Amino acid sequence: MSEADLTEYTAVIAGKKVPAAGWIDVLDPSNGRPFARVARCGEAEVADAVDAARYTYESVWRLAPVAERSGACRRIATAIRSARSELATLETLDTGKPLRQSLVDADVAARYFDFYAGVVEALGGETILHQADRFAFTLREPYGVCGHIIPWNYPLQIAARTVAPALAAGNCCVLKPAEDAPLTSLRLAEIVLEAGLPPGALNVVPGYGEEAGAALAAHPGVDRLAFTGSREIGEAVMSAAARNIVPVTLELGGKSPHIVLPDFDAARAVPLIVDSITEHAGQNCSAGSRLLVHRSVHEELVAELAAAFRALRVGPGIADPDMGPLISAKQRDRVLGYLAEGAGDGVLRAGGAVPEGEVYAGGFYVEPTILDHVKPWHRVFNEEIFGPVLCVSVFDELDEAVELAEHTTYGLAAGVWTSDVTTAHWLAQRLRVGQVFVNNYSAAGGVELPFGGYRRSGIGVEKGVEALREYTRCKTVTIHTPAPA
Ligand code: NAI
Ligand code: MG
Repeated sequence: MSEADLTEYTAVIAGKKVPAAGWIDVLDPSNGRPFARVARCGEAEVADAVDAARYTYESVWRLAPVAERSGACRRIATAIRSARSELATLETLDTGKPLRQSLVDADVAARYFDFYAGVVEALGGETILHQADRFAFTLREPYGVCGHIIPWNYPLQIAARTVAPALAAGNCCVLKPAEDAPLTSLRLAEIVLEAGLPPGALNVVPGYGEEAGAALAAHPGVDRLAFTGSREIGEAVMSAAARNIVPVTLELGGKSPHIVLPDFDAARAVPLIVDSITEHAGQNCSAGSRLLVHRSVHEELVAELAAAFRALRVGPGIADPDMGPLISAKQRDRVLGYLAEGAGDGVLRAGGAVPEGEVYAGGFYVEPTILDHVKPWHRVFNEEIFGPVLCVSVFDELDEAVELAEHTTYGLAAGVWTSDVTTAHWLAQRLRVGQVFVNNYSAAGGVELPFGGYRRSGIGVEKGVEALREYTRCKTVTIHTPAPA
């Protein structure tokens, strides 16, 4: 494909597509070939986007009645549903994930806008008992301009997850999608305009992290930041937020364990454990990437999982296989790097290599992999691999399982597999993680469910009613109410 054939995607600022000063090639992860190019925004575009958001916030959106904001969000949801198959195809080309997953992503994105359209109408402050001659109450006010930096694994879902509550609450947004998968965010910007949001309510500035991303994080005109991605960049974004004294939500992934007790239901657990680490090739913040299993059921379970892993069809996302490629050569090499050292002590039970065959040529594939007998001092036990790699460790006592679960510094999610309701409750309360799934594991979960990390998995909460509160600030008003003279 020559450069002239590549579809071009530009930034959307103040409701307009702006000419690009430079370009970034967008690669199809299933074959490594560029199929589009996207504007390479920098400080200047980010500054324009922040100005546009500020203008729209002060002149229109801050003053818009709640019914108007809610109605706009509902129209966005409807428009996303109408564009469902177009968005899903774009997402699959961009990220490599199986098409049916992208269709789910589009549906979930629509749900976010519907959900916050509803919830925002019930959002209010409180009256507070104070002094006899004072009437005290709180107001929930939007922050103003929100900056959102998102990753490439679930771009459409995460864009909707972070932008929907912000817009519903009355903020205006600047969204910086990942350079590896920016396209559905830019399509969302158009959809939002078509749905009748004022130009400037959602501005999208694609570009590299160290350019557009860093400029957005540091911009003094941004009143609130939200970041999803790696822990290293999370730290950088939080430092930038500190310099401007603005709040920041961080969603930094995890190393989430499944804890499997002897009385678990294998028929239910096996497919869900497989899914939890192979959905989008394991490139999922809440992937169930560790299996902590009781010695008495270890061999049988791992054998069953290995057979299931080997049976997975791997291929280009557009052909809707069980698992697609990783996002980039960089990510594939990162995963292979972990495997090269992890397999040294651990025992390889499935996968472990790049799949062979013509269909994989040029693509960023890694086989679904199981490493058994992984020890807490292995790097693969503690670090987020972000690939289709399940690390298995054995325990004898429940306390040991908890200790292993908490050996990493992350605390995003955990799966608990047992028929004993008391043990399940005890673990749910004991584990220092943001979400516990009992006899169940769903990474995306419902839009209604608050989602956030403990420990180094992040700060703040996304999704659910909680997230809407996070996009508003609390103002306290007291009025002197003396008895009439
Ligand atoms: P990253 O953290 O570099 O990228 C996430 C976003 O941050 C992208 O939009 C990127 O452009 C932006 N960014 C990068 N540098 C920035 C900077 N200096 N200032 C502001 N924004 C910046 O993640 P990357 O390098 O793509 O992936 C590396 C690892 O991060 C993965 O292997 C995985 O372990 C983790 N990760 C976790 C995610 C999650 O869902 N929590 C999502 C993506 C990656
Ligand atoms: Mg990076």
